[in-house]
Amino acid sequence: MLTMFRRGIRVVRLLPEESFKRFTSSVASIFPPEATPPPPGALPAARTVFDDPHLPPALSTPCSEASLLAESLARLIVTQTTCDSLLKNGFAVSNVLHGGGDDNNNSKVKSTLIRLRDDIDNLHARGGFHENSTHLAKPGEDGKQARVAKRGVYEAELADDATRIHAPFLYQFAREAHALNSLFGVYCPSLNLKSRGISAKVQRTAAPPPDAPADHHFPMHFDTAEGVDERVLTCLVYLSDDDVEGGELNLMPYPQHGEQTITPSLGTAVLFSSRRMLHATMPIRSGVRRLLTFWLWAQDDGGGVPKAPAPPSLSDEDAVREYLCHPALYRHMLKLHFADAWRAGLLTSHSNSDVLVAMHDKEVALLEKVLGQYRKTFADMGPNGLNNVPWF
Ligand SMILES: [Fe+2]
Repeated sequence: MLTMFRRGIRVVRLLPEESFKRFTSSVASIFPPEATPPPPGALPAARTVFDDPHLPPALSTPCSEASLLAESLARLIVTQTTCDSLLKNGFAVSNVLHGGGDDNNNSKVKSTLIRLRDDIDNLHARGGFHENSTHLAKPGEDGKQARVAKRGVYEAELADDATRIHAPFLYQFAREAHALNSLFGVYCPSLNLKSRGISAKVQRTAAPPPDAPADHHFPMHFDTAEGVDERVLTCLVYLSDDDVEGGELNLMPYPQHGEQTITPSLGTAVLFSSRRMLHATMPIRSGVRRLLTFWLWAQDDGGGVPKAPAPPSLSDEDAVREYLCHPALYRHMLKLHFADAWRAGLLTSHSNSDVLVAMHDKEVALLEKVLGQYRKTFADMGPNGLNNVPWF
């Protein structure tokens, strides 16, 4: 099963039965089936905000206020420090309200964030949001793509007409966000990003009523994968008020580091590897969590899932540890390692989680057969700061 995100929609694919035989024949043979992209037209392509010829013309001119503010925010997010951390650790966290500069500049940044937040609320009030669902690539009985709704998580595409009409500042701002691509091109040229390849959405999640037996959160997932699309870098900017409780983002850069918990405070910016960073969000206890998400696109889709190298001798412990962090095995080992917590998140985050849990259990059982022999070694590695994961 392959778990991915498209346009913010979580997609779960079940390995076909014929793959099972190949899967169990050797470790190296697991991975080619995973590299197979969905058939053309099976899933909607993630929308590129700025390269879509069908978009209405931008409201702003290159020197508009939105353009200047987007560039200003990008310069606070993308620095040499954040890029160094991103390449080394797979993630970077900063807060644009503490990015230096004088009080006048800080208040200008804060007012920009509040305008974006208010546009999100206005768009929500006008019905511009839709429920986030996990889509199953495997069609349902009616032949349509099956989906399972998440509880309480709503999102909106920034390239939509509804956003242009009801959230004009947010719309203009997003159109100018390719300033991020430009700055990453300067500080992280090895990411090989498209100069204007970026997609965006906003998410709005409120706490459930006090007596509701439900959690509003995201279970563990990766945003995308090689061979699926060109997204390579996720950039989040939180726009929550101070009253939000819960809703923390948990990044799992295991085994290089332990779990990283990030509070969704106004102005907090988080960068991480879209393809390799396992992450989840915690239930919201009170308030409303608002989030602006950008995905930056690489020049290519990574050429499919990397091929697994030949397994090293089990007696060569260093080689085994390096082997388990290889991109071809890393995601699978994480799924095995966090299988129970992953399963628990599926149960509480979806209205009807039975099908997702069944698919999860089947995949974990399959992985256990093929990679179970490495499970203890992977667990024993712990967060050690030694075994570097090739994040990009
Ligand atoms: Fe995500």
